[in-house]
Amino acid sequence: MAKIIGGVTSSHIPAVGNAIANGLTQEPYWKRFFDGYKPAQEWLQKHQPDLAIVVYNDHGLNFFLDKVPTFALGCADVYENADEGWALKPVAPFTGDAQFSWHIAEKLMEQEFDICTCQEMKVDHGFVNPIRALWGTHEKWPIKAIPLAVNVVQHPVPTARRCYKLGKALRKAVESYPEDMKVVILGTGGLSHQLQGERAGLINVDFDLECIDRIASDPEWFASFSNSEIMRLAGTEGIETIMWMVMRGALQDDVKIIHKHYHAPISNTGAGVLVLENTFI
Ligand code: DHB
Ligand code: FE
Repeated sequence: MAKIIGGVTSSHIPAVGNAIANGLTQEPYWKRFFDGYKPAQEWLQKHQPDLAIVVYNDHGLNFFLDKVPTFALGCADVYENADEGWALKPVAPFTGDAQFSWHIAEKLMEQEFDICTCQEMKVDHGFVNPIRALWGTHEKWPIKAIPLAVNVVQHPVPTARRCYKLGKALRKAVESYPEDMKVVILGTGGLSHQLQGERAGLINVDFDLECIDRIASDPEWFASFSNSEIMRLAGTEGIETIMWMVMRGALQDDVKIIHKHYHAPISNTGAGVLVLENTFI
């Protein structure tokens, strides 16, 4: 049977792609941020998951504002990256697992999550940068990766609680897959940031630190916030943090905290890394 070994969260800042592509990761500006990934990389190397379900949001590469699914699952064998306008070369295509994805889609539907299924899906920095930060950049990626896109871009946006419930349904869906497979869930985006308007540049360090602690130990705390409260505290783009709740919901209630790291500001964001392990394994 497939099993979820744990979850990792990561911000997905586009400038990370530039820092990696141009060899800047050990420069003073970036070093502490990238050092924060080392324990997560080691944990992944030790446990060698076969597949990552990457919970992320598309920022206009695959979906535009005319059609925005609330939850969209990649159901393809290959996912391509493409030019997003950052003057970066797209990375190599990712290998998915269409058979696994269709199983997940079916089991989510049975649990009343009516997701959009995508047999073609371009993946942007929200998906690519966490993978590069955690596994390095490869021509042949060392892990299969499945995109699960959440709308955090155009209102109405799902609530943190809905994302948490999606995670719980995702766990059942994964655990009912008959093949042996080790799965890791990535929750990407966040933490606090606002890229536009009067409050552009907002970062809320205290709230971010509390999010890292309590999403791990008391997810009900974060599930109880309304979207307006999250945006008031964490900025309009800070709403991306709801995607961490899909990861959290997919894990058992009592998890082992392997690693926590926070760095702010980096680009325009308060950035967090969290590694949680399911202890039943
Ligand atoms: C930044 C962060 C994001 O999540 C994003 O999608 C774009 C930009 C930033 O920090 O600059
Ligand atoms: Fe983003």
